[in-house]
Amino acid sequence: MIVAITGAVLVAFIVGHLLGNLQIFLGPDWINSYAEHLRELGPFLWVIRAFLLANVLLHIFFTISLALENRRARPVSYKKKEHVKATFASRSMALSGLIVLAFILYHLAHFTVRVTDPRFLLLKADPLNRYDVYSMMVYGFQNYFVSGFYVVGMFLLALHLSHGTSSFFQSLGLNDKKLTPRLATAGRIFAWLIFVGYTSIPIAVLLHLVKPAQQL
Ligand code: HEM
Repeated sequence: MIVAITGAVLVAFIVGHLLGNLQIFLGPDWINSYAEHLRELGPFLWVIRAFLLANVLLHIFFTISLALENRRARPVSYKKKEHVKATFASRSMALSGLIVLAFILYHLAHFTVRVTDPRFLLLKADPLNRYDVYSMMVYGFQNYFVSGFYVVGMFLLALHLSHGTSSFFQSLGLNDKKLTPRLATAGRIFAWLIFVGYTSIPIAVLLHLVKPAQQL
């Protein structure tokens, strides 16, 4: 249940963060003022960050302890293992989760601490004296390797979510012969919509559909 609830909190963040990021398509004014409003939250922003971090840590801790408990319950491994119902997404939860974690660490260094790209230091404030998050994102994604890594990270996030969303209902005991397969399909559709939404940003930059607001 803890894994399910912390997972749901993280999904809420992922949806909110996507809606915030999609403002890049509305122009620099939108996304720069959105980022400025977030920063204006001041100490409350740190409360939100601490809450998110606690959810990530609890989610990881309890999934690892569940996996260890499962292993202890069957110390001798199966001689022959055939997967009847388990999908690829469900069997690769640990791997997809770990790679998503690595992605988040890189992403924080890239866009929050801004230590991976020296060009970000050269960015001037926008006309309203706000940090130009818009141009930072555009310059960041102009690099094919960076964008490629984001697409891979987002693919694994979608894979993780496509199984995670349906296990959420199972973990909370919301299991029904008719409803369960429908929830599983809805979960998969949701996960791939998240993938399309997030990857649209680096792809739009690489296709020059979104250009920086200032030249470096
Ligand atoms: C194309 C995809 C993404 C873009 C363009 C993007 C963009 C950004 C930007 C610009 C920031 C810095 C905000 C600021 O300091 O003003 C940020 C922070 C962050 N992003 Fe993303 N992001 C993407 C995907 C993701 C994903 C998939 C996750 C999680 C699974 C994620 C988690 C975070 C977190 C945890 C922060 C730090 C928030 C904070 O405490 O300041 N991002 N992102």
